[in-house]
Amino acid sequence: MRERIPTALTIAGSDSGGCAGIVADIKTFAALGVHGMVAITAITAQNTYSIEAILDVPADIVVKQIEVVVEDMGVDAAKTGMLSNAEIVHAVAKVIEQYNIPLVVDPVIESKSGVKLLKPNGIKTLKKELLPIATLVTPNKMEAELLTGIKIRDLNDARKAAKYIVEELGAKAALVKGGHIAGDYAIDVLYCNGNFREYRALRLKEGYTHGAGCSFSAAITAELAKGKALDDAIKVAKEFITKAIAYGYEIGMGFNPVNPIAWLEIPAQKYLVIHNLERAIKLIEDNGKVFARFIPEVQTNIVMALPKPYARGICDVAGVLGRIVRVGDTVKAAGPIAFGASSHVARAVLKIMEYDKNIRAAMNLRYDERLLEAAKREGLIVSYYDRREEPPEIKKKEGATIPWGIEQAVKRAGTTPDIIYHLGDWGKEPMITIFGKDAVEVVKKALKLISAIEA
Ligand SMILES: Nc1ncnc2c1ncn2[C@@H]1O[C@H](COP(=O)(O)OP(=O)(O)OP(=O)(O)O)[C@@H](O)[C@H]1O
Ligand SMILES: [Mg+2]
Repeated sequence: MRERIPTALTIAGSDSGGCAGIVADIKTFAALGVHGMVAITAITAQNTYSIEAILDVPADIVVKQIEVVVEDMGVDAAKTGMLSNAEIVHAVAKVIEQYNIPLVVDPVIESKSGVKLLKPNGIKTLKKELLPIATLVTPNKMEAELLTGIKIRDLNDARKAAKYIVEELGAKAALVKGGHIAGDYAIDVLYCNGNFREYRALRLKEGYTHGAGCSFSAAITAELAKGKALDDAIKVAKEFITKAIAYGYEIGMGFNPVNPIAWLEIPAQKYLVIHNLERAIKLIEDNGKVFARFIPEVQTNIVMALPKPYARGICDVAGVLGRIVRVGDTVKAAGPIAFGASSHVARAVLKIMEYDKNIRAAMNLRYDERLLEAAKREGLIVSYYDRREEPPEIKKKEGATIPWGIEQAVKRAGTTPDIIYHLGDWGKEPMITIFGKDAVEVVKKALKLISAIEA
């Protein structure tokens, strides 16, 4: 028998901007490997800075959407987001209770832009009917204050509110989120079975949190659908949401959305980079005798970066650990491929990506004028920088020389060059760096130039 994929259901509003609501939930479910299903409660005309119109779906249609999927595929866990009005809250509470589905309630009340997403009478029904059947409630600071009447200024207040939601309002567990509670860390406080637990992450720069609450509660729901215990589910979800905020993207004129796909895309891109480097290194080793003559004193590295927006530092660039070294009359990779293995060539790639994000790979070779001449004959763009012109303040800063040099070379060429060289300086040997879209392309460029001078 085929193994059944876990299923999760989101009962929430549609955000036409694709940042929050059911869209964020479905992305999150997919990224975490569960089959996502939806019961839409309201259609919102929404972008990154405003909600212009809301159409509530009739409560019986909301219920029908739930019933049909429960009866066919089954629902391992569900979450609620925007429920809009008291009738919907009431209907959802009834049907979820009837099927006895583990339920995460994200008590969405107001949007970031200040629009009411749950009418005042809905709040009463939510407290009376939905919270008592919730496996977990995930209010942010404002929602926790509204539900409990407790003013939240710090972690201690958050604890009080979480406890109140369980002991006075009847939820099984409450997680008061720390996104809006000041501090160097974003700390979420859980109260469950008489105990407190905390989930913390370093606070990231503000502005990439549109859809954070939705994706976070969806991630918890996905993990519960897989059968995880609550504490484990929240741990994964916290890691998930921190990544989604860290790699949130800039789009629209208002609040930038989280990126729930980062969770999947980073490992997938890492695999593609490693696979490309493996092919490139094989090509180098197969032509070891050819390359041996062009390995500099500091040896060679070949590197490839993750695509933007994931390429941020040298840990996001893979290279050969221990570099590619001359062995007798041939060359060999000294160690395995690893992210963070290169510092110099990696910095060059990261800098050139600021000018052209598609140039993601590079390799350094011993300086040889004939290579540059061959490159020019082949129509490649060659540029250079002069280390003797390096300003003293750049020289003093660790790791600043190469980015400075690349900038000089790009400005000199007026475009992103295929090759950048420098003639060295005191204690620095001259060097050629070949750039390209991927590692295999770089090696092919190098081979073409070498064979051109040997022809
Ligand atoms: N700047 C930040 N850095 C790191 N984590 C954050 C940041 N802001 C929020 N979080 C985390 O994101 C999750 C969502 O919390 P938040 O308090 O932002 O929810 P919310 O206000 O309901 O979000 P939304 O407005 O999208 O509904 C929590 O785990 C929170 O700690
Ligand atoms: Mg929220």
